[in-house]
Amino acid sequence: MLPVAVICELLGVPFADRAKFQTWSEAIISTTSLTPQQIMEYLGNLHGYIAGLIAQRRVQETDDLLSAMVKARDEDEDRLTEQELVQLSAGLLAAGHETTVTQLPNFMYVLLTNPDRLAELRDDPALIPAAVDELMRYIPLGTAAAFARYATEDIEVGGVLVRAGEPVLGALASANRDERVFSDPDELDFHRESNPHLGFGHGPHHCVGAQLARMELQVALHALITRFPKLHLAVAEQELPWKRGMLVRGLKKLPVAW
Ligand code: HEM
Repeated sequence: MLPVAVICELLGVPFADRAKFQTWSEAIISTTSLTPQQIMEYLGNLHGYIAGLIAQRRVQETDDLLSAMVKARDEDEDRLTEQELVQLSAGLLAAGHETTVTQLPNFMYVLLTNPDRLAELRDDPALIPAAVDELMRYIPLGTAAAFARYATEDIEVGGVLVRAGEPVLGALASANRDERVFSDPDELDFHRESNPHLGFGHGPHHCVGAQLARMELQVALHALITRFPKLHLAVAEQELPWKRGMLVRGLKKLPVAW
């Protein structure tokens, strides 16, 4: 709930509406979990909901990101089209609760099943910021290479000719275990001297929420580790239910006891 509350507060979206928009935003990350009809219906609902909030901001400005984006659009139409305004707002809302919300249980799952690493963090919580980045490197959030880049001219990538107009899909999970960049890439190591992972992407489209996500993950991990020293899985590992048919990889739920 923490990341949902935070993104609602930042954007100015009513937290009380979360049941509605959580259902709809699955359309943004669904591959096969929803039917094509459901995807179109939910996207329509989500965009309609956001358009309603934008219309409210045009009547009365409020102190939030949504108002700032509406202002950017209305004061200089070159900066954002109306469609970009709606889609960016919907994207931020969805990204705010499908990414960090999924990655936090993924982190806890890996820590609870790697007791030595968990003990290391308990003994020295100052390692948590480095641990968050190492866990971002180690645990793929995406189920596939999903963010296409299109060549604007013929270019060679990794010895392959990509012609102008063709897409290239970067496999972030693979890059994050590249042995030419990371020593012992399959080891979870909170003491790496440098950790140039691509968990938040790279270049002009690098995750706009990266610092927010880092902060939320650090705060949540710190609280879970320090307040619940006996935290452990409440079911056998093989009984944990995993999400299916989505662009994000994660647990449907993580039953724990303490
Ligand atoms: C653990 C949490 C998160 C992960 C792993 C993650 C991952 C990513 C990745 C890999 C990209 C790059 C996409 C590309 O290369 O095209 C990206 C972009 C983006 N992220 Fe995140 N993200 C996280 C949290 C967030 C949060 C909390 C927000 C919102 C506040 C957010 C908003 C966005 C947006 C709007 C973009 C698109 C940026 C652009 O195209 O210029 N993300 N994210």
